[in-house]
Parts: sequence; C-alpha cells; structure tokens
Amino acid sequence: MKVTVNRKAHFNAAHRLYNADWTDARNAVVFGKCANPNFHGHNYELIVSVKGEIHPETGFVMDMKILKKLIEIEIEEYLDHKNLNEEVPEFKTLNPTAENIAVVIWNKLRSKIDENLHLSITLYETPRNFVSYSGE
Ligand code: NI
Repeated sequence: MKVTVNRKAHFNAAHRLYNADWTDARNAVVFGKCANPNFHGHNYELIVSVKGEIHPETGFVMDMKILKKLIEIEIEEYLDHKNLNEEVPEFKTLNPTAENIAVVIWNKLRSKIDENLHLSITLYETPRNFVSYSGE
C-alpha cells in the first residue's frame, strides 16, 4: 500500500527565454514576450509529491516537517527573488522554461529524499500553465 504526501511551496523569480544560437528575430517568433531582453517575472507555485509505504512506527510516508525544511532550503532560498538566467548556475546555459526549472528542482530534491520514496513535482508558472516531472 502506497500513499502520496504533498507539500505546496512558492517562489517568485525572473527569467528570459532565449536560445543564444538563434537570431533575435527567431527568438521573438518562438518565445514571444518571454524573449524580452529586460526579463519578466512569474509567481511560481510548486507541489512536491512523495509516494511510498507508510512507516509502521510513525504512520508517516515522510515527516512533513523535514520535507518543508528541505523545500525551504533547497528550492525557496535558492530560487526565490532571483533572476534565473543570471543568478542560478544551472541556467547559465539552460533555457529557464518551466520544463527545465522543474527538472532542476527535481534533481536538487531527489538527492535529499530516501531513495525508497518516489518523487514527483508539479510546477505552475501561471495559474493555467503547469508542468510535471518525476525523473523519467
Ligand atoms: Ni516567462
């Protein structure tokens, strides 16, 4: 029997979507307003989901106090109020799309969570646009 526990988190960040190998014109066509050289911001909403067996002694899949702290340190402090392109090393060469941000977040959390637990994340870039990643 496996149960999924979920924790919501939030951060604000700025980015610019841009492929340095392309002309400005092609970037403008593909990324639209998101290619604006002066950057723009999003209010990102994150859901971290951890699935596993219920531990018989605690009744927990994972201690939510630990998960909360992990997200605060690894994700919120790392990304909140940052310019992703310029201040977050992973995005020096990686386009900070919601897809790529989700993969970066997942990778940072995966190494800190018990390997017997399945990790998936959902990242909302806007209330209607969101992506999911679970390491596949
Ligand atoms: Ni954007």
